[in-house]
Amino acid sequence: MEQASKMSRRCERCVLFIAALSLCAAAAARRFPTLEHLKSRADDKTQGAAVAELLRRLLGTRSAEFVVVVDGSLSDDSLDVCELRSTKNNKIVATGNTGVSVASGIYNYLKYFCNCHVSWSGDQVALPRPLPRLSGVLRINTQHRFRYYQNVCTASYSSVWWDWPRWEREIDWMALNGINLPLAFTGQEALWQEVYRALGLNQSEIEEFFAGPAFLAWNRMGNLFEFGGPLPQSWHVNQLTLQFKILERMRSFGMIPVLPAFSGNIPRGILRLHPEANVTRLGPWAHFNCSYSCSYILDPRDPLFLRIGSLYLSQVIKQFGTNHIYNTDTFNEMLPPSSDPAYLSAVSRSVFASMTAADPQAIWLMQGWLFFSAASFWKPAQIQALLHGVPLGRMIVLDLFAETEPVFSYTESFYGQPFIWCMLQNFGGNSGLFGTVESINSGPFEALHFPNSTMVGVGMSPEGIEQNPAMYELMSELAWRKEPVNLVKWASLYAVRRYGTTRDSLITAWRLLFSSVYNCTVPHYRNHNHSPLVRRPSLHMNTDLWYNPANLFKAWKLLIEASPSLMSEETFRYDLVDVTREVLQVLTTSFYLDITDAFHKQKLPELLISAGVLIYDLLPELNRLLCSDRNFLLGKWLERAKSSAIDEEEAKLYDMNARNQLTLWGPSGEIQDYASKEWGGLMEDYYAQRWGLFVQTLVGCLHSGQPFKQDAFDQAVFQVEKGFIYNGRKYPTEPQGDTYEITRRIFLKYYPQALNTLKRLS
Ligand SMILES: *[C@@H]1O[C@H](CO)[C@@H](O)[C@H](O)[C@H]1NC(C)=O
Ligand SMILES: *[C@@H]1O[C@H](CO)[C@@H](O)[C@H](O)[C@H]1NC(C)=O
Ligand SMILES: *[C@@H]1O[C@H](CO)[C@@H](O)[C@H](O)[C@H]1NC(C)=O
Ligand SMILES: *[C@@H]1O[C@H](CO)[C@@H](O)[C@H](O)[C@H]1NC(C)=O
Ligand SMILES: *[C@@H]1O[C@H](CO)[C@@H](O)[C@H](O)[C@H]1NC(C)=O
Repeated sequence: MEQASKMSRRCERCVLFIAALSLCAAAAARRFPTLEHLKSRADDKTQGAAVAELLRRLLGTRSAEFVVVVDGSLSDDSLDVCELRSTKNNKIVATGNTGVSVASGIYNYLKYFCNCHVSWSGDQVALPRPLPRLSGVLRINTQHRFRYYQNVCTASYSSVWWDWPRWEREIDWMALNGINLPLAFTGQEALWQEVYRALGLNQSEIEEFFAGPAFLAWNRMGNLFEFGGPLPQSWHVNQLTLQFKILERMRSFGMIPVLPAFSGNIPRGILRLHPEANVTRLGPWAHFNCSYSCSYILDPRDPLFLRIGSLYLSQVIKQFGTNHIYNTDTFNEMLPPSSDPAYLSAVSRSVFASMTAADPQAIWLMQGWLFFSAASFWKPAQIQALLHGVPLGRMIVLDLFAETEPVFSYTESFYGQPFIWCMLQNFGGNSGLFGTVESINSGPFEALHFPNSTMVGVGMSPEGIEQNPAMYELMSELAWRKEPVNLVKWASLYAVRRYGTTRDSLITAWRLLFSSVYNCTVPHYRNHNHSPLVRRPSLHMNTDLWYNPANLFKAWKLLIEASPSLMSEETFRYDLVDVTREVLQVLTTSFYLDITDAFHKQKLPELLISAGVLIYDLLPELNRLLCSDRNFLLGKWLERAKSSAIDEEEAKLYDMNARNQLTLWGPSGEIQDYASKEWGGLMEDYYAQRWGLFVQTLVGCLHSGQPFKQDAFDQAVFQVEKGFIYNGRKYPTEPQGDTYEITRRIFLKYYPQALNTLKRLS
């Protein structure tokens, strides 16, 4: 009780903090009347009901203390707004212009007045009783017309095996976090199959095109085909059913789902039907060879492009309905056949024409990734030509990795096309604490005030989700703020609501994390987990850190000390595991340096000592740690894959997809470990096995006086890696062991060692 009143006093102080949010319509949003029609089609009542049901799912009977009112006429400039007030009988009335506005307004109240928190790794929704009163009107509004969410890769790295309950939960999270422009890519192959059949392809020609579920994102982008396939008919049926539910739910909140369109990427069979078509075969993608890569791309200027593109989009619209915005990417990580600006303009003009043929009001949403990933091709003339092939305001560009590599700033704001400033944050769904808090806190505001800015929104475009929940909560919240937040204060309040306690040591822990792992300021730093722990061992591994590990270790100590009374909070357990995991990842780097040092100096006893601790203690402890929390289980990922199957054969195919993506990523390790995960089971049977073989090989070399041969090691370790994919082992789907005991033991053993490594690592 005392705690609760203390927390609500703290809340009172937040009133001013929040009330500082004020109306400031972005001029850019108004400058594009072409985007006016991108709005929700659901009526006010439907949207209100959707929010009421969300609250029931989230708060149970306490949801009755919220009165939800959606009134579309509340905003006269298409910018979302929500007003909250207390009633005499202590209810909260939230009135907003869309369901999303109301949901995010309520979440703001829940966060800052009730100390609540909703995340991928647990909720903290113990509401104070009675609900804290609002003394006046709390107005939450945004200057960003659009809040975009997802990356085309998220569908493969994170949501590939999701069922409806998981989707439902995610869409709730989107609404609470104010997302109104989500990608809705599920089930698109089912429609492609119909279109290909209508065009005259037979079944084997279709099957040799679609990749397996875990690789569909790159099949859609024209990077690869067939690998991990063929897609079973049951897959199409399930995905289509899911997509109908996803779209209905998104729209019921007033969101604007983005649907897929045609990029020119075609099955080879089209060449049989249309030998006259102007088709280019691209070069190989990443380290693939042409057996699964080297896609066939139909020239957008070919009349067949218009035919296929509009046929597909008509089918999409017929089946899914539309909110008039479509995504497609023509040259994602692939070079166009010509750099002639006239050609590039013709390409985008044709792609857009194939959209408007099916929907005269179409808006093309394009990822701006290509301008960054192939920067030597995309010079100003090329970028401008591609962007100006489409009338100004009929396209929205995603500045996909704006926190690190913004493109708007050197393209005069995409040469007049509207854009969305996106935080990418994560590659491959990798585990690992990471963030660029300073950049995301200032970037969107700078972009908005950029001369002649065409910014129309902010977004989040992570390749994979379900890590670093703090970064996504911060980024979402910034969309509703007029100016950057005080990060230290924000981190403090985050700690309070994440754990439901105002304990100072936890606040300090989060401040330490914000000033270390979450404060990456290294220019051009690409957050791929390149820690030796999750990479194939060699004598030349990247051991850089972007932060001072001393702060991480201090935060660890504080979490460990707080743990006795907090283990029942899932959010706390998750963070305790995650921070301990991060510490052990850092220590692995330190052991790796010791091992290679000893090897170079030919000191066998030293090598054996360091390697012995790593192989026989640290890695097994790390595996036990991960196995003790439901959020870090390989077994869950595999089980989800399996439950997408209707028979043994499908189950086997999905199992291979699920395991290969995490490890080899390709038949022969083409982009190996790109999607690494520090998960219980995977740690034991993949990463630790690999380290075991490495150490064994080094010891053998010292014994025999032979040098270490990377090629020979790679061949041997490939067998270990492949062995994991086909080991047939079932991994636990429920946590095992006591996280508290395990973390304590690890702390007692490794904390002194962690402090010792500081000189070496910083
Ligand atoms: C599909 O067409 C190709 C090319 O004509 C042919 O080789 C293949 O056997 C056909 N497959 C089926 C299932 O009809
Ligand atoms: C086919 O496209 C290429 C460029 O991709 C172009 O150079 C060529 O003229 C086109 N051929 C025809 C027949 O349209
Ligand atoms: C902004 O737009 C105005 C009017 O088109 C133009 O005169 C000015 O040069 C632009 N400023 C910049 C920095 O591009
Ligand atoms: C992040 O690091 C920079 C210096 O690299 C520093 O100026 C800034 O205050 C730090 N931010 C936080 C939140 O600690
Ligand atoms: C291409 O890659 C596949 C899969 O790794 C391999 O089996 C095949 O031998 C390779 N083909 C060529 C021509 O290198």
